[in-house]
Amino acid sequence: MPGGNTVFARHPSLLPTCVPRRRGEDLLAGGISVGLGTVTGMETLRHVVLFVHLIGFAVLFGAWAAQAFGGTRQITRIMDYGLLIAGVAGLALAAPWGIEYELNYVKIGTKLVILLAIGALLGIGSARQKRGQAVPSAMFWLIGILTALNAGIAAIWR
Ligand code: HEM
Repeated sequence: MPGGNTVFARHPSLLPTCVPRRRGEDLLAGGISVGLGTVTGMETLRHVVLFVHLIGFAVLFGAWAAQAFGGTRQITRIMDYGLLIAGVAGLALAAPWGIEYELNYVKIGTKLVILLAIGALLGIGSARQKRGQAVPSAMFWLIGILTALNAGIAAIWR
């Protein structure tokens, strides 16, 4: 689609009805007319996976924030679950399905590296806790900073 970075290129379902659309193709793809445009089942499924990805981010960052501000600054299992949910849904979103624009693979690769770094910090930190040692405060804060960085990269880098 021309103008690959426009809102309409990223969200074709927002196209006003006056913009010519390939109706035949939409019908073949199982499109549903919703007044403003046509949403295919694949697009909707991708939005559901994005929703799950955001839940994973919220679980990870929420669990970390609860520990950072008012907690005992420990690493918890909930952080692992959040990272797992965000990671699995993120990998599913890394494949180009249900979209009409090009994915930014440099950005996705950067996010994957950061996710692996967060996973390593969570693993090392919880191993230390199990041995009765404290989690170094730099390690604890880095987990939150890298999680926020990944969300910032997702939202700002296009
Ligand atoms: C801690 C780890 C992660 C966090 C906090 C995170 C956060 C987010 C957030 C907040 C969004 C929504 C932004 C928007 O809709 O513009 C998003 C979208 C997305 N994320 Fe992640 N993410 C993480 C890991 C990953 C990983 C590992 C991958 C893939 C390998 C990934 C791939 C994507 C993709 C493809 C999107 C769809 C939006 C786009 O094209 O930019 N994410 N992520």
